[in-house]
Amino acid sequence: MTRDLTGKTALITGASSGIGSEFAIALAARGANVVLVARRKDRLDALASEIRDHARVNVVVVRHDLSAANAAAELEGNLRSTRTQIDILINNAGFGTLSRFVNENRYRVRDEIALNVSALVDLTAAFLPGMIARDFGIVVNIASTASFQPVPGMAVYAATKAFVRSFTEAVWGEIESPNVRVFALSPGATESEFFDVAGGKASGTVAPARDVVTTMMRQIDSRRSRPSIIVGSRNRIMAWFSSRLPTAMVVRVAAKMFLPPVK
Ligand SMILES: NC(=O)c1ccc[n+]([C@@H]2O[C@H](COP(=O)([O-])OP(=O)(O)OC[C@H]3O[C@@H](n4cnc5c(N)ncnc54)[C@H](OP(=O)(O)O)[C@@H]3O)[C@@H](O)[C@H]2O)c1
Repeated sequence: MTRDLTGKTALITGASSGIGSEFAIALAARGANVVLVARRKDRLDALASEIRDHARVNVVVVRHDLSAANAAAELEGNLRSTRTQIDILINNAGFGTLSRFVNENRYRVRDEIALNVSALVDLTAAFLPGMIARDFGIVVNIASTASFQPVPGMAVYAATKAFVRSFTEAVWGEIESPNVRVFALSPGATESEFFDVAGGKASGTVAPARDVVTTMMRQIDSRRSRPSIIVGSRNRIMAWFSSRLPTAMVVRVAAKMFLPPVK
């Protein structure tokens, strides 16, 4: 089954690069109007003209810093003032930091939690009730394979993603309409600017961002609604082991993979 998304409107946060850009392209290709949100307006404008060249959809660019206080409420107000109804929400904007926690900058930690957690919850709260009232909606909250175990070297990031997955799976359990779907999407290492921003390099296999989006679009079209989607069979096996092996063992393995040497 292919779900008809023609004429629906998708809000994609973090659309200026990586996974978010690919979501915008894929949703527009399916006929959805797109609202592109991020801080780098030049990147959003370039993506908007690429989309307009290939699809007959409305594209709106919103330059917005979602880590700022009240950021989500401001974005909601901005969209309300233009009578833009959101049918599909891709809560994708997020960043991580590769560092020992004691060396992390406290303001960066605050922004990381504000963006990865608070803005995501606020935007879900802003748009999910309308979806339920209209009996149609899709919310994709981007978690990570980092959500399946604590990660020394990315302590705050992994904790934010554990929050995203737990929160989303719980909300999934509250939805009673089959036409409103809420997903936690957990990619593993993916080609994007993520590791440049985090200050490190990906270890192991790195998937193209397009593959992450293709996996998600298949789930959106699936008859069966699942709360949690892990991208890639290797990542699914790792997540299975991480949630069943003793925590000390799992954390030591994660430390070997991600913990930077002591300065
Ligand atoms: N790449 C991976 O290996 C990987 C793995 C698992 C999960 N993820 C998750 O996937 C999501 C997308 O990341 P990505 O891999 O595509 O990385 P990316 O290329 O760095 O994209 C991150 C996006 O978030 C936006 N963003 C960052 N800070 C923002 C802010 N304060 N306000 C608004 N937008 C902001 C960025 O745009 P601006 O800088 O223009 O604002 C950018 O568009 C994130 O939630 C990430 O945690 C990534």
